[in-house]
Amino acid sequence: MTPSPTPHTTTISAAEFRDAIGRFLTGVTVVTSRHDGVPQGITASAVCSVSLEPPLLLVCLNKQSSTRQAVAASGRFAVNVLAEGQHDLAMRFATKSADKFAGLALEISANDLPLLQDTLATLECRVTEEADGGTHSIFIGKVERAAVRDGSPLAYVRGQFARVQPPPAA
Ligand SMILES: Cc1cc2nc3c(=O)[nH]c(=O)nc-3n(C[C@H](O)[C@H](O)[C@H](O)COP(=O)(O)O)c2cc1C
Repeated sequence: MTPSPTPHTTTISAAEFRDAIGRFLTGVTVVTSRHDGVPQGITASAVCSVSLEPPLLLVCLNKQSSTRQAVAASGRFAVNVLAEGQHDLAMRFATKSADKFAGLALEISANDLPLLQDTLATLECRVTEEADGGTHSIFIGKVERAAVRDGSPLAYVRGQFARVQPPPAA
């Protein structure tokens, strides 16, 4: 009888994982939500389209994040897609602070979601599922409203912001 292969149980370090997955280029968003009238927001690149019909979007939020608590409590979140040049917004919402929204023009949508102004796209979602993802919570949301604006996206790769040159609009 052939012996079965020894199960491969080793894993990689957080640094090795970050180094490898950091080479996967992403866009940059600010995920916003509101609970008890208090707006919350977090810079997030772990955002992914899941399904077209119904339109579903997935976001992964750190369990320590106050935005994650607001999304879980309100059952709603908005994905604000950042444009090239909006590094300042990305850094503001990637830094813990009592009021990340101070001095920012903000629209509260009909769905009670805080929307950033002048971003490339805004997608308003209602949570349909929450799953455990280790240090993070995975939220799947049904997209109920979307708005877009022309421009180039802000990109992120190997721990740095980057520019991409999209093809001219058809
Ligand atoms: C480009 C970029 C992408 C990020 N993507 C995520 C993400 O997808 N999910 C996440 O939980 N944190 C992500 N972070 C880290 C959070 O933005 C950061 O931990 C922030 O301080 C959390 O804020 P809060 O704890 O006040 O909610 C990202 C940071 C940067 C700079």
